[in-house]
Amino acid sequence: MPPEPDTAVIDDEREAAAADAWEVTGNPYLAGVYEPVTDERTDDNLEVIGEIPDDLEGVYVRNGPNPRYSAPGRYHWFDGDGMLHALRFKDGRASYRNRWVRTRAFDEEAKVHDALFAGVMENPRDNPPLGLRLPLKDSANTDLVVFRQRLLALWYLAGEPYSLDPVTLENLGVDDFEGTRPCLVSAHAKVDEQTGELLFFDYGPVRPYMRYGVVGPLGTVTHLADIELPGPRLPHDMAATEHYSILMDLPLVADPVAARQGRHKIMFDDSLPARFGVIPRHGAADEIRWFEADPCYVYHSINAWEEGDEIVLDLCRVTKPAPRQGAVGPLAKMLSYLRLDAHLYRYRFNLQTGATSEGYLDDDNTEFPTMNTSMLGRPTRYAYNMRISDEPTLLFDGIVKYDTSTGASTRHWFGPGRWGAEAPFAPRRGSAAEDDGYVVSFVHDENEGRSEVVILDAADIAAGPVGRVLLRGRVPIGFHACWVREDRLASA
Ligand SMILES: [Fe+2]
Repeated sequence: MPPEPDTAVIDDEREAAAADAWEVTGNPYLAGVYEPVTDERTDDNLEVIGEIPDDLEGVYVRNGPNPRYSAPGRYHWFDGDGMLHALRFKDGRASYRNRWVRTRAFDEEAKVHDALFAGVMENPRDNPPLGLRLPLKDSANTDLVVFRQRLLALWYLAGEPYSLDPVTLENLGVDDFEGTRPCLVSAHAKVDEQTGELLFFDYGPVRPYMRYGVVGPLGTVTHLADIELPGPRLPHDMAATEHYSILMDLPLVADPVAARQGRHKIMFDDSLPARFGVIPRHGAADEIRWFEADPCYVYHSINAWEEGDEIVLDLCRVTKPAPRQGAVGPLAKMLSYLRLDAHLYRYRFNLQTGATSEGYLDDDNTEFPTMNTSMLGRPTRYAYNMRISDEPTLLFDGIVKYDTSTGASTRHWFGPGRWGAEAPFAPRRGSAAEDDGYVVSFVHDENEGRSEVVILDAADIAAGPVGRVLLRGRVPIGFHACWVREDRLASA
C-alpha cells in the first residue's frame, strides 16, 4: 500500500502569481481552452489520422459549461449553460455535433437575448423564479447518463433531468419519469445496465436533506426513501452494488446560516467523520446502515460490489477539500477548490461487524474515473482515470488505467499543451473481457487551437491512439462524458 500522499504541499508563490495575472487577464475559466463556443455545429466525414476501428460503433458524448450570455458578476466554471459535444462512430466514420441543453433557464434568457441569472459566487436573490429549490440557474451542465435509449443531462446541485436524443442531440424536455418523479435528481445517478434501473439521489438545504430513489426499466419511479442527514450536505456522487446502494454524508457541508438565506456557501468540517450509507436497493429508510470513516471528500466513485460479508467501494478520495492557501483575489475560492488533489482509494464495509477498512491504492493525482459501465455493481478490475496536471487550472494531461486489484497502472500522455476529457470505456462490438474495447477522449490542443478525439485500445492505452479524429470546431474543457452503445440507440 503506498504511503498517504502529502496533500499539504502547496506552491504558494506560483498560485499567487497566477492569481495576480488573472486580476489583469480576467477569468481563466472563460479563456483559452475553456473559452465558450458560440455556435452549434454538425460536421460529417471528419478527417482521421490512423483509423476508426470497424468494431467501434456508438456515440461519445460529453457535457460541460458553455455560457451563452455573459452574466453580471463573477463567473464560476460551474455556472455555464450545459452544452453537449457528441462524436458518432459508425461504419468506420465519425461525425460531430454540439448542442446546448435547452433548460428552462436557457429558454428564459433566450427570450430576452441576455443573461438573467447570477452565478454561485454572487447573490442569487434577484434571479428569476423557476419554481425550483434553489434560486440558481439549473443548467444541467454536469453529468450524462444513458437511460431508456435517451441521454439525461444532470446538474450537480440537483435539478430537473433533461432528456436528449443521443444521436441528434435533439432536446426532448424534462423527463418527469412518466409523471412519477417525486423530487429533483442530482448528477451521478447510476444505471444498472443488467436490470435497466436508474438509481438516483436528491439533496438540498432542508430536511431530510437527501432522498434516494429507483426508476424502473419502464421509466417510472419504483422506489423512494427519505435519507435523514445531520444537516445540509454537498454530496456529489453515489455508488451501487448488485443489491445495495451507497450514499454519502461527507464533512463538506453547506453553511446552514447561508443556506437559510438562500446563499450557496460550503465549508469542510474535519471534526466530522465521512459516513457511507449502505441501503438495500429497494430498502426503506430505516434499513440504511452508516459506516464511519476518516474525514474526506469524494467527488467521484468508480465502482462497488459485494464480496462475502463486505461491500467493496473504489473511488477517488480528496483528503483535504478545503481551499489551498495562496490564491488571492475575487476568484480565489473557485480557483482553489478546483485545484483537485485526489487519489485512488478503496473502502471495505463489513455488513456483519459494521467495521470499515480503508486505504490508498495509489498516490498519483487522478480524478474523473470511468469503468466498463455494463459491470456496474459487479466486481471489476479496471478504472480509467484522468491525471490531474500541475497547471493552476483544472487540466488533464493523461489517462491512467488502473488495475484496482493491485494499484498497478499504465498510462497515456496527451503531450505538451494537450489536455484531455473524461474518457469513457467503449466496448468493442462483441466485447467479452472487461477491457475489451476502447477509451475515447476529447483532446484540446492549445498549441494549435483545435480539438480532436483520441481512440485508445483499452487493453493497451500506453501504445497510443489507434485513431485521432480531427474536429473542425473547438471543444472547450468540460465535465462528464458517457458512451452510448450502438445497440442502446433507438434505431438499433
Ligand atoms: Fe461530477
